[in-house]
Amino acid sequence: MFITVEGIEGVGKSTNLAFIRSCLEAQGREVVMTREPGGTALGEEIREILLAHRHDGMAADAELLLMFAARAEHISRVITPALKRGAAVLCDRFTDATYAYQGGGRGIEARRIAVLEDWVQGTLRPDLTLLLDVSVETGLRRAGQRDVADRFEKEQQAFFERVRACYLQRAAREPGRFRIIDAARPLAEVQARIAGVLAQYGERRCDE
Ligand SMILES: Nc1ncnc2c1ncn2[C@@H]1O[C@H](COP(=O)(O)OP(=O)(O)OP(=O)(O)O)[C@@H](O)[C@H]1O
Ligand SMILES: [Mg+2]
Repeated sequence: MFITVEGIEGVGKSTNLAFIRSCLEAQGREVVMTREPGGTALGEEIREILLAHRHDGMAADAELLLMFAARAEHISRVITPALKRGAAVLCDRFTDATYAYQGGGRGIEARRIAVLEDWVQGTLRPDLTLLLDVSVETGLRRAGQRDVADRFEKEQQAFFERVRACYLQRAAREPGRFRIIDAARPLAEVQARIAGVLAQYGERRCDE
């Protein structure tokens, strides 16, 4: 079971991750919680490069390839081994974020991202993706309450509007995999909805 959590900055991905983990553990599963870019020693170093302002203006393709370099390491060292031993993998962002940020945001054509997706991932795709959705204003306001903005967070509103639109478009195209959660609601309501989705998903898998 490979579950990813997606959404623009400040929607509450990190906030809800521990809650999702506890729901899955209550279903009796071992859970490996991880994030992208990152999740390995090499991946975290690549993340640092990707977020640092010293690389402002990095070529979009360089950014894309670094994302997939980190992902290749993450899949081979963490995700695949965990899935093989039957654990649930819970990941804060994955390839949908690449389509949304480097595709929608930076303007790289989706078909070029798809080539890398097939190359790096083979047939590996998330089983379930929770898309936490809020308006760009709300997301940025929440994210802005944190310390300093990284290289992505300093992008303009129009960039995040494209990112959000791309996420919603992907969710509409793959309704079987995506669940859109209205993350503008108070946290307790967001978590009740997430718990409902996970319970329903667990039952569906048992029936299969
Ligand atoms: N439903 C909610 N209502 C109000 N505030 C929330 C809600 N969910 C999260 N927050 C707050 O919004 C802020 C951003 O949340 P969080 O760091 O989890 O977002 P994120 O999606 O992980 O952001 P990033 O993409 O930058 O990592 C935090 O201060 C968090 O407490
Ligand atoms: Mg986060």
